[in-house]
Amino acid sequence: MCGIIGYIGKNKAVPYLIRGLEHLEYRGYDSSGIAVSQGGEVITVKASGRISDLKSKLAGIELTAKCGIGHTRWATHGEPDDINSHPHSSMSGLFTVVHNGIIENYLPLKKELLGQGFTFKSSTDTEVIANLLEKYYEGDVLSALSKCRRVLEGSYALCIICRDFPDTLYGVRKGSPLHCALKRTESFFASDTVALLPYTREIFTLGEGETAVMKKGKITFYGSDGAETEKKAERVNLPEQTADKGDFPHFMLKEIYEQPQVLRKTLSALVRDGELLPELSELKKSFFALQKICFVGCGSAYHAGLAGKILMERIGNITCVAETASEFRYGNTPLDGKTLCIFISQSGETADTLAALMKAKEKKAKTLSVINVRGSTMAGESDNVIYTEAGTEIAVATTKAYTAQLMALYLFALCFAHERWQIKRSERDRLLSQLSQLPEKVQSIIDRRDRAELFSSLFDRRQEGWFIGRGSDYASAMEGSLKMKEISYINTGAYPAGELKHGTISLLERGTPVVALCCEERLFPKTFANIKEVKARGARVLILAQKKSSQALTDEENVFLLPDTEDEFAGLLQAVALQLISYFTALKRGCDIDKPKNLAKSVTVE
Ligand code: F6R
Repeated sequence: MCGIIGYIGKNKAVPYLIRGLEHLEYRGYDSSGIAVSQGGEVITVKASGRISDLKSKLAGIELTAKCGIGHTRWATHGEPDDINSHPHSSMSGLFTVVHNGIIENYLPLKKELLGQGFTFKSSTDTEVIANLLEKYYEGDVLSALSKCRRVLEGSYALCIICRDFPDTLYGVRKGSPLHCALKRTESFFASDTVALLPYTREIFTLGEGETAVMKKGKITFYGSDGAETEKKAERVNLPEQTADKGDFPHFMLKEIYEQPQVLRKTLSALVRDGELLPELSELKKSFFALQKICFVGCGSAYHAGLAGKILMERIGNITCVAETASEFRYGNTPLDGKTLCIFISQSGETADTLAALMKAKEKKAKTLSVINVRGSTMAGESDNVIYTEAGTEIAVATTKAYTAQLMALYLFALCFAHERWQIKRSERDRLLSQLSQLPEKVQSIIDRRDRAELFSSLFDRRQEGWFIGRGSDYASAMEGSLKMKEISYINTGAYPAGELKHGTISLLERGTPVVALCCEERLFPKTFANIKEVKARGARVLILAQKKSSQALTDEENVFLLPDTEDEFAGLLQAVALQLISYFTALKRGCDIDKPKNLAKSVTVE
C-alpha cells in the first residue's frame, strides 16, 4: 500500500528518493511522485503507473536539491492518475505533503476550506491536510501541525515540506507507521524500515501522535503533547532486502522455494532446549484460567487463524473462535480477562488487525500477536509476540509468511495443550517430532513442482473453480481459493464439502475445476462421497491427499499425493502444493504474479 520516503543531506535528494520508492514498491501502488526544495521553490514531479514512469518524467529535469519527499500511492480517494498522485501542495504551494492512511472527515473539512476560499486540484483527502496547514500557519510549522492534528480524524503518517524552511522536513503519525534514521550528515524518513536498511540498522520509530523535525544529520522528536522528547533508536536485525530474484523469474516462486529454510528457522527460534515458546513464560501462567481463544487476522492470516482454531479445539479442549479482523473490530464477540486474542499478521501493520488488537486491549483481553516484521506497530502494541522467521516477503501473495504462521500456531497449540494438561509430554514430543519433519516434506513437494504445473492445466482456461474440504481441509480450501483468485484472477470459491448440496452445487457446470482437499483421514469417506457427487455432475476434480490414502484413490485421474503427516498439520503441506498450482496457473495466463492488480502488500487503510 502507500509508501513514504524523505531525505535531507549532503547529496542530491532525487536518487535517494527513487531508491527509497523502489524499496517500497513491493507494497503495491498505482502511482508515485516526489517533491524537492530547490531555489526557494518546491518542485513536484508525479506519474501514474510504475516508478519507471516517474523516472522517465524526471529524466529531462535538472534537480540538484538536497531535501525532498517521495510517495508511492495505492488509490483510495480518487483515481490513480497524475493529479491524485502524491505529493500534494496547499493552494499557494506553501506546504507540500505526502500521506499514508485515510482522513475520515476530509469531506466536511474540504467543504469548510472551500467556503474559506481555498482551492483544490485533486479528489484526495491528502490535499485537505496541505490546505489546513496553510490555513493554520502563522510562521510556526509545529504549531500549525498541532492545530491540524486536532481536527483530523482517521489515520495518517505524513511527511511535509514547508517552503519557508527548505532545509527541514517534518513527519508525524497517527495509526500509520513512520520511521526515521540518521547516517552521519544524512537524515531519512520512511514508512517501512525496508527503505532505511541500506543506510543503517538503527531505526527510530515514531509513536502515536509523535512528531519529528528533521534537518541534515539531526532529528528532534516531540511527544503528542508537543513537548520535546528523547528517543532511542532500535536495532533492526533484518537482512537488507536486495529486491533480487536471483535465478527465479518471480519473487513468489523464490519465496515458495525458501519455505523449508523459513520453517526450520521458525522452529528453532520457537523451540529452545526442548521448551516450546520460552519467551511466553508470563502468558503461560494464565493458561489454566483462560476460557476462550479468539484467532483474528485478514486474508491469508485469517486462514492461518482458522487452521489454528481447528487444531486448538482438537488438542487444547478450549472454546475458540476465528474471525476476520474487519468483522471482529466492529463485532460483539464477548471479550474479558479470561479471553486470549491471537492476532496474526505478516506485516504487523494491517489497519483492521491493529484496530482489532486495540479493541481487545480495551476490553482487557490478553493479547498475543504472531508477526513477521520486527518493530512493526502491532508488535509494539501486543502484550506478547511470537515472531515468525520468514524474512522479508516481497511478492504480494503471501507464501512463506503464511506457512511460518501455521508453524507458529501449531507450536502454540501444542504448548497450550501440554501446559494445560490436555496432552501428555510424550504426545507433545511425538507431535513436535512430526512438526520438525515438515520442512523436508515441504521440500519434497517443491521437488515435484512439475506435478503442480501439470495440474494447473485444470484451471488456466477457466473463469471459475471450487476448493472444497472438511475440518482443517476447509481452512486449506479457503487459502487455496484466495491464492488462485488473487494471482490468476479466476473466480474461485471455497466451500465446506458437506455444504455443496445446500445451494452451491446448482452452479456446477461440465468441466468446472474442483480441488478437493482430503487430508483429514477420519473425514475421508465423507469428502470422497462429495467428490463423487460433483464428478457425477461433470466437475473435473483434483484430489490432494496424504500418501496413506493412496489405496482408496487408485481409480482417480488427478491426484496430488502429499507426504504423510499428522492430519492437523497437513494444511501446511497442502498450502505449498496449492501455491505452486496457483503460480503455474497465473504464469500460463500471463498475469503480473508478484504485483496482482488492485492489491497491496500491507493494507494500512481500513
Ligand atoms: C494473501 C495476502 C493477504 C494478507 C492480508 C493480511 O496472499 O497476502 O490476504 O494475508 O492482507 O496481511 P498481514 O498478514 O500483513 O496482516
